[in-house]
Amino acid sequence: MFITFEGGEGSGKSTQIKLLAERLESLGKPVVSTREPGGTPDGEAVRALLVTGEAGRWTAEAETLLNYAARDNHLNKIIRPALINGQTVLCDRFMDSTRAYQGYAGACTFHLIDELELSIVGATKPDITFIFDLDPIIGLKRATKQGKGKEDRYERMGLAFHQRLRDGFLEIAAHNLERCRVINAADPIDIVARTIWNHING
Ligand code: TMP
Repeated sequence: MFITFEGGEGSGKSTQIKLLAERLESLGKPVVSTREPGGTPDGEAVRALLVTGEAGRWTAEAETLLNYAARDNHLNKIIRPALINGQTVLCDRFMDSTRAYQGYAGACTFHLIDELELSIVGATKPDITFIFDLDPIIGLKRATKQGKGKEDRYERMGLAFHQRLRDGFLEIAAHNLERCRVINAADPIDIVARTIWNHING
C-alpha cells in the first residue's frame, strides 16, 4: 500500500506518519517512511535547493521541474522497490504538493504538471492520500514554533500564497474523491491518529 500525507505548513503530517508507522510495525507490517522532496541522497540535495534561500529564488515552473527530478529518483530508488517488496510506503508529501504549491499557489501551468505526473508518476499513484486541512494562520504559527532552521523558504511566501495553497489542496481532494481523505488538522493528535487508522482499515 502506498499512502501519502499532504497539506500546508505546520499541519502535523510528520507526527501522524510516525504514529502510523509505529502502529503498523507493532503489528508486524514492514513500513518505509520517506519524504519529498528528498528520500534519497540525490533527492535530499535537490531539496536543499528548494527549501532554502530567497522566496523568489525559483519560478514555479523551475520548482516543478526540480521536484519532479527528485520524485523520479525517489520513485525508482525507494518507492517502487519497496512496493514490489510488499512494504507499506508512508510518504510525507508527493505529487499533490506540486499541484498545490506550484500549480494552485504558485501559478505554474497545469499543462506542465499534468504531463510530468503522467510520465513520471504514471501508474504509481498513491492508494490513499490524507490531506491535512488547517487555517494557514494557525499552521504558519505552528511551523515557526517548530523552527525548521534554514528550511523555511515556503513559510516566507506570504499569507495569500498559503491561502491559495489551502484552497488548492481542497480542490485536489474534491477532484479525487476515491483516493483523497480530508483530515481536520485542528483536531487533537489522538483524534487525527484514530481517524487515519479508521480510514486505512475501513
Ligand atoms: P516539508 O516542510 O513538509 O518537509 O516540505 C518541504 C517544502 O517543500 C514544503 O514547504 C512544501 C514544499 N514542496 C513543494 O513546494 N512542492 C513539492 O512538490 C513538494 C514535494 C514539496
